[in-house]
Amino acid sequence: MTRRAGRPAGPLTLITGGAGFIGTNLADRLLSQGAAVLLLDDISRAGVERNLEWLRARHPERLQVELADVRDMSAVRRAVDRADRVCHFAAQVAVTTSLADPLRDFDINVRGTLNVLEAARARQQPPPVLFTSTNKVYGALPDVELERRDQRYVPADPHLAARGVDERRPLDFHSPYGCSKGAADQYVLDYARCFGVPAVVFRMSCIYGPHQCGNEDQGWVAHFLMRAREQGVLRIYGDGCQVRDILFVEDLVDALLLAMRGIDRLAGRAFNIGGGPANAVSLLELLALMSTRLGLAVRVEHAGWRSGDQRYYVTDSGRFSAATGWSPAIPVAEGVARLLDWLGGAAPPPAKHGLTPRAALS
Ligand SMILES: NC(=O)c1ccc[n+]([C@@H]2O[C@H](COP(=O)([O-])OP(=O)(O)OC[C@H]3O[C@@H](n4cnc5c(N)ncnc54)[C@H](O)[C@@H]3O)[C@@H](O)[C@H]2O)c1
Repeated sequence: MTRRAGRPAGPLTLITGGAGFIGTNLADRLLSQGAAVLLLDDISRAGVERNLEWLRARHPERLQVELADVRDMSAVRRAVDRADRVCHFAAQVAVTTSLADPLRDFDINVRGTLNVLEAARARQQPPPVLFTSTNKVYGALPDVELERRDQRYVPADPHLAARGVDERRPLDFHSPYGCSKGAADQYVLDYARCFGVPAVVFRMSCIYGPHQCGNEDQGWVAHFLMRAREQGVLRIYGDGCQVRDILFVEDLVDALLLAMRGIDRLAGRAFNIGGGPANAVSLLELLALMSTRLGLAVRVEHAGWRSGDQRYYVTDSGRFSAATGWSPAIPVAEGVARLLDWLGGAAPPPAKHGLTPRAALS
């Protein structure tokens, strides 16, 4: 294959949503290994411009940036045409925002993904496409019988409690975000089936780590730590006993790289990816860990349950582990301490421009 003028040697990875949390971590790993990366992002998420500045400063040579919207088909086609592989992360990422504006959520998450898939399909040899879907495609799991033990919900079924949710769980899209990500997830698998696009879907649980612009709507681990550092009030929806398995972003980056390496074997498949039962915490348990291990106290106020909130979701990543040998390496206490370090440690952040840190946020 002849390379276009100006294109760097070696495979070029296109990361849509590349200035975001997961995109920045993947881009940094690839660039640090000497690979070339093209980010496509419209910088619509507040705070991600700092990720982009950080990447540009660290990797002035091999980082390429296209400031564009995934809804813009010609921009997507231009970027996909240059890429040897595509990680499609750009998305409207919050359930709450999707409830406020389902049309915009649909356009970004479904049409944006179709744009990427169509651009890949148009290539004589479609590049591998890796898509980040979500555990929300399994819905609120209302049939899972739960018991409340201390500060968490536990499934009555011992197998589910020991292993978590695997890919045989029926799809049950809940919330506009669940529907748009679920539709995109199915389109990606179908483009592998119908058009031979070598594509893989990761159905991910909660990912956390450095470069996460956490807020109340998405990125709850970072949000909890930020709130505690600001000495602000943290609102907990529901009773706080809801359980999530959390996965440190470096473990996710390892899994993404393994998926790209094994694309010939893995194409056309969906994998549940998360921290698993060993890294499952309830919201109240995370608060307890923050207090006892990190010295971070936070004032809590309670509000009602949010629509579609799963009381229990823990990933069974066994299918991906069996296919690649991957398993999470970074335990919760270590990962949370590393995220706190990145945020600047346990001390409250200094006030900016005469405002208190809380006021500066709002
Ligand atoms: N972080 C998690 O816990 C988690 C869990 C499950 C799935 N996911 C999925 O992983 C992907 C990445 O998530 P993240 O946590 O890095 O989110 P993020 O919000 O940090 O990153 C998303 C990036 O996409 C960009 N973006 C949004 N709309 C765009 C558009 N129309 N055109 C171009 N760029 C656009 C944003 O500016 C942002 O930089 C998303 O698809 C998300 O649905 C994340």
